[in-house]
Amino acid sequence: MKQISSAASLLLLSIIMLGMSNASFSDDDKHGFFSRILSSGKTPGVAPITNPQYLEECGSCHFPYQPGLLPARSWRRVMADLEDHFGESSELPPEDATKLTDYLVKNAADYANYKRSKKIMRSLHPHQTPKRVSETPYFIKEHHELSRKMVQNNPKVGLISKCQACHTRAEEGSFSEREILIPGFGGWDD
Ligand code: HEC
Ligand code: HEC
Repeated sequence: MKQISSAASLLLLSIIMLGMSNASFSDDDKHGFFSRILSSGKTPGVAPITNPQYLEECGSCHFPYQPGLLPARSWRRVMADLEDHFGESSELPPEDATKLTDYLVKNAADYANYKRSKKIMRSLHPHQTPKRVSETPYFIKEHHELSRKMVQNNPKVGLISKCQACHTRAEEGSFSEREILIPGFGGWDD
């Protein structure tokens, strides 16, 4: 019994130390480890990409959308249609497609304990299977105030799907309002 509890406290200590080293990377405690734990365990944003093959294959033409931005059923749809991928072909050898589908499905919004993933899931009806992040009701609601001047007619943006044009920490999976900089317009005060 004693051995078990000292093993448990060692584990707890390492978790705390891990948290502290993690927190020291962040300049703002809102993203810190402790506030994440205290705020009901849900991490803000979406989980960052951990798969180098995904970054290479799905980040060469556009922003590598994190798996937690769409439900598993949407990723299956996207991956089933790679030869007609939004008007382009992004076909992959079948074994690569299978591996990437597996990664996307396992890390999809359905299963992610991240705030944005949960909001995206909550906004969707069970029968909705959008192929675009930008077609999820949550996304549409969050972006409806943006003007054409800021997006379509903005030479540095062009498409609303170009997340990283405005969200300065999008690649880390962080989309908080304070980190938004719209090229030519600046920050976003709401
Ligand atoms: C050959 C270039 C190319 C490659 C490679 C590619 N895509 Fe795309 N993708 C596109 C184009 C073009 C669009 C449409 C852009 C637009 O109109 O917003 C797009 C759009 C998307 C969108 C919708 C974005 C939105 O929310 O509006 C998703 C999701 C997506 N791609 C996922 C993937 C995944 C997953 C892979 C890897 C298997 C991948 N893409 C590889 C060209 C590519
Ligand atoms: C043209 C700039 C622009 C682009 C491109 C853009 N966003 Fe945004 N996004 C914004 C702005 C501005 C807001 C804040 C809107 C508001 O609060 O009224 C926002 C809000 C958000 C939010 C909610 C943040 C919060 O704190 O409530 C998320 C999540 C998000 N965007 C994700 C994305 C993703 C994912 C993409 C790409 C598929 C994307 N955005 C593309 C400008 C942009």
